[in-house]
Amino acid sequence: MESLLGIIRSRYSCRGYLDKPVEDDKVAYLKECMRLAPSAVNRQPWKFRIVRSQEGRAKLQSCYTRPWFAEAPLYVLASLLHEEEWVREDGKPHGNIDVAIAVEHLCLAATEQGLGSCWVCNFDAKRCHELFQMPGNEEPVVIIPLGYPAKEMTPKVRKEPEELFVEE
Ligand SMILES: Cc1cc2nc3c(=O)[nH]c(=O)nc-3n(C[C@H](O)[C@H](O)[C@H](O)COP(=O)(O)O)c2cc1C
Repeated sequence: MESLLGIIRSRYSCRGYLDKPVEDDKVAYLKECMRLAPSAVNRQPWKFRIVRSQEGRAKLQSCYTRPWFAEAPLYVLASLLHEEEWVREDGKPHGNIDVAIAVEHLCLAATEQGLGSCWVCNFDAKRCHELFQMPGNEEPVVIIPLGYPAKEMTPKVRKEPEELFVEE
């Protein structure tokens, strides 16, 4: 089995997909990896739409119009249920953190399964909210396109450890 560090190293923002569907057993595996994510006070303030239909895909593609994005055979649209998120005493809401944890579970699991993925937050969230007829308390946060990669991994550019880690 590949180490977690190995999977983390090989995950990258995949911006090109083959015209090949993702198998149902892989989709089930990814869903379980999202479902088991931790969240503040275990509120699980999220909803994940698995978008595979032609109609659903077209809706998402109209919210983020990059050609590579339209190649993906499958998307996960992750949204935040504001009524269910935990808010700290000082007023800081934690729902975005919760959604981000579950979504990175998804991306790492996808890598492990040989699938490409990419975080997409720069989409038209208002349009997405309308097209998917979301209730007022639900906010679309991120779209993850998924599929078999058509392009090689891009090199990682990251800050050096000295800049990041402080021993106290
Ligand atoms: C919260 C978040 C939002 C992002 N939104 C977008 C996006 O809208 N479009 C896009 O092409 N990439 C998006 N990315 C991908 C980043 O550009 C990418 O993760 C970063 O450049 C590091 O590259 P890597 O993922 O290949 O390691 C997003 C990443 C994160 C974590």
